[in-house]
Amino acid sequence: MIGLIGAMTVEVELIKGSMTEKREETISGITFVQGKLEGVDCVAAVSGIGKVNAAMCAQTMILRYHPRLIINTGVAGGMGKGIKISDIVVADSVVQHDMDTSDLGDPKGFISGIDRIQIPCDEELNDKVRAAAGAVEGLACHQGIIATGDQFVGSKDKLNRLMEEFGAVACEMEGGSIGQVCYINKVPFTVVRAISDNANDDAHMDYPKFLKIAVKKSFELLTELMPLLA
Ligand code: ADE
Repeated sequence: MIGLIGAMTVEVELIKGSMTEKREETISGITFVQGKLEGVDCVAAVSGIGKVNAAMCAQTMILRYHPRLIINTGVAGGMGKGIKISDIVVADSVVQHDMDTSDLGDPKGFISGIDRIQIPCDEELNDKVRAAAGAVEGLACHQGIIATGDQFVGSKDKLNRLMEEFGAVACEMEGGSIGQVCYINKVPFTVVRAISDNANDDAHMDYPKFLKIAVKKSFELLTELMPLLA
């Protein structure tokens, strides 16, 4: 069983639409759809936006469906040169950029309990993501740190801070908390997102304009990826 999590309905509807042998169940307000995608057993869910929603979804999915790995799919804001709208970014690790106990002497982003800043994604899974991206015509795939926080990043100042403090190549609002849940439960995971905006002063215009195009890219990649996970 492969777990697939997207934050918003638009990020999961193509997945649900092409799943077969579907069965639905709602737990704690989150609907989980179990079935097959490209012939591979999976469970897909819309978590809702933000770290708390995403953590609830990942933990519930793990306890109820025991997925052997979890993929967080959807869109992200791209950061840095060479990362363009519609490109794919796969996380080699995730951070929670709004976790801040620096006034107590911790480094920014330090997550107490797991006692680390960066949460590593599964390398074997990422090898397969890159292979799948290579099979999609004209798709550029970047790898790096994805920064998660409970905020939409839409200004040059915020963008620069995340790049400087965390070396992030993309930002979004769920991957870092799904990562924390997976890390604690020893479930391999990754975050694979298509770029919908550049997290800069134009992001509030680009995001609604390119959301659906980016979602489609993520889905195309997932379609190539699933058979590699069989
Ligand atoms: N998801 C897509 N674009 C984003 C941005 N700029 N900030 C946070 N999450 C996003």
